[in-house]
Amino acid sequence: MWQKKWVMGNWKMNGRLASNHALLKELLLVDIPATVAVGIAMPTPYIAFASEQVKGSSLLIGSEDISHFAKEGAFTGEVNGNMLADVGASFVLVGHSERRQYFQESDACLIEKMNNAHAAGLIPILCIGESLAERKSGLANDVIAKQLQMLKHYVGADHVAVAYEPVWAIGTGEVASVEQIRDMHAFIRAQILSLLNVDVTIRLLYGGSVNAKNAADIFDIEHVHGALVGGASLECAGFSQIIQDAQ
Ligand code: PGA
Repeated sequence: MWQKKWVMGNWKMNGRLASNHALLKELLLVDIPATVAVGIAMPTPYIAFASEQVKGSSLLIGSEDISHFAKEGAFTGEVNGNMLADVGASFVLVGHSERRQYFQESDACLIEKMNNAHAAGLIPILCIGESLAERKSGLANDVIAKQLQMLKHYVGADHVAVAYEPVWAIGTGEVASVEQIRDMHAFIRAQILSLLNVDVTIRLLYGGSVNAKNAADIFDIEHVHGALVGGASLECAGFSQIIQDAQ
């Protein structure tokens, strides 16, 4: 898994039982190259059904979020890592920019989520990215460096998965340039290596308007080990093209 290219879909708040079932049925027919790991992060209510449906295949099912409370208890509305693992999730997105924006998720809360995911046997994918204003004012590297600081407290720090998703490229059709991605991925890698005093295995995904047309060029960039795909993961033909381009 940690040597492969990752193609992770993020369905966000989309889909219903029937449409999810149909899309997964199509995806199960896709020939997934041995060098590529493919997963879908989906809304919590559908994880159990999806896990059951993909059983026996290499398709991974993940969650889009996890509670920062690890233990069962009086936390109405929350879902912890053990519950997600129990229904078949194997990875979880942590700190997606939409969650940072709409739910004010702080670094303190996100490191708890990372550690809870790890404790439950899930792979957390830490999502980071700068806003357009931050990039325009030359602050992109500072913002990213700050968002990565919490990894110092991550208990699973020998294996780290990060998705770099510039906020201005998410759902906008605007993709970061090859140079921007190359520079930022090299920067993120260097930051992680200097933060973590361990022999760390790193997967760095790019996210933000990845589609069947631009994926091949993005996968070619140094230190790009995969993609986090939103809109283009909601339809099989385009998503399967991205999977082929990843090999
Ligand atoms: P997008 O979303 O591919 O639709 O831009 C990516 C994401 O939010 O993870």
